[in-house]
Amino acid sequence: MWKVLLRLEYTVCYSLHPELLILRSVGVDLVGKTAIVTGSSSGIGLECARQLLARGLSKLILAVRDEKKGAVAREDLMSGRDLKAGAIEIWHMDYSSYGSIMSFADRAKALEALDIVVLNAGIYRIPRVILPTGHEEDIQVNYLSTAFLTILLLPILEAKRRPGTEPGCLTVVSSSVAAWSRFKLPQDGRPLLTTLDEPMGTAAFDHHQQYCTSKLLGQLFLVELTRRVPSSVATITYVHPGLCYGSGLARDSMGTIAGFIAGIIFRIFGRSCVGGAQAIVDAAVAHGEEAHGHYLVDGKPAKLAPIVYTPEGGQMAQRLWKETMSELSFAGVEDIIEALVS
Ligand SMILES: NC(=O)c1ccc[n+]([C@@H]2O[C@H](COP(=O)([O-])OP(=O)(O)OC[C@H]3O[C@@H](n4cnc5c(N)ncnc54)[C@H](OP(=O)(O)O)[C@@H]3O)[C@@H](O)[C@H]2O)c1
Repeated sequence: MWKVLLRLEYTVCYSLHPELLILRSVGVDLVGKTAIVTGSSSGIGLECARQLLARGLSKLILAVRDEKKGAVAREDLMSGRDLKAGAIEIWHMDYSSYGSIMSFADRAKALEALDIVVLNAGIYRIPRVILPTGHEEDIQVNYLSTAFLTILLLPILEAKRRPGTEPGCLTVVSSSVAAWSRFKLPQDGRPLLTTLDEPMGTAAFDHHQQYCTSKLLGQLFLVELTRRVPSSVATITYVHPGLCYGSGLARDSMGTIAGFIAGIIFRIFGRSCVGGAQAIVDAAVAHGEEAHGHYLVDGKPAKLAPIVYTPEGGQMAQRLWKETMSELSFAGVEDIIEALVS
């Protein structure tokens, strides 16, 4: 019965999004390759992990903040598969702590190989939460920590490249809601990251805007990063998985009327996490160096948020780059990037 329902879901999903049929046919063989997927204990990340294994991936690192959830995910991924011992490892990594991200990256240096990195972990908070880093949680997780891990993993991807093979691939899960951000550069000289952490006077915290802005910052950062770092280091892409139902992203609205209505909208207009993961896995494994710096939507290069192409977006990107380098200066990120370029 459930197989019939699954087939029905596929049929509806692909009739709404026929382009996914093409993605499914990409026959990439990942035997002998190693991948890291962040946020892989649930939702789209878990499905990404499953699809990478289905293509023969030899080693998978589940980067998760909750190792118990990671263990359940590993059981699920292993069932029905004949994998070697140690083929799936669970590594702790919490984006709310810079120390945790650095330990994770240090551990990755000892991997025998690293070919694919999918930076999928993300959050959509409804209450305004300030983390011990001093930053609001959406901005910290979706932007600052993702950018930090990107920088730390690039030299490792470069170092682990085997002679005669293509550069490794790092793909960041973005979202087309970046285009909905109404964020404006502060005109009073305050750092833009500071303005995003501050309470908004008497106005209510606009959680949806904050999420959209966190994804916009990610796009602005990657434009700057891929301008500096060549594709010979790693093919860096960003990808939109599409509107997906069945993940934990909307967990803060569970049990509310707004959450119930959003759930119905997601179910009607969205695709399953399997469909979202197909778009991400396509970005991570089916494109070569020519895709460096591309924002991929269902396997094709797409436009970033419109503001990215404006003079204001250019100014925003430059200020963001400077502030990000300063925020992460404790880890010598500018030197890391400089070493990649030279
Ligand atoms: N769903 C959509 O419609 C949609 C659309 C566009 C883009 N996206 C993006 O797709 C990605 C995956 O989202 P999803 O829909 O699959 O939601 P999800 O099920 O909530 O998955 C998000 C993952 O990120 C992890 N995570 C959250 N905060 C973290 C932290 N501080 N440190 C480490 N990991 C953390 C979560 O871990 P826990 O399980 O421990 O909470 C979870 O595994 C996100 O980047 C999201 O922005 C989603």
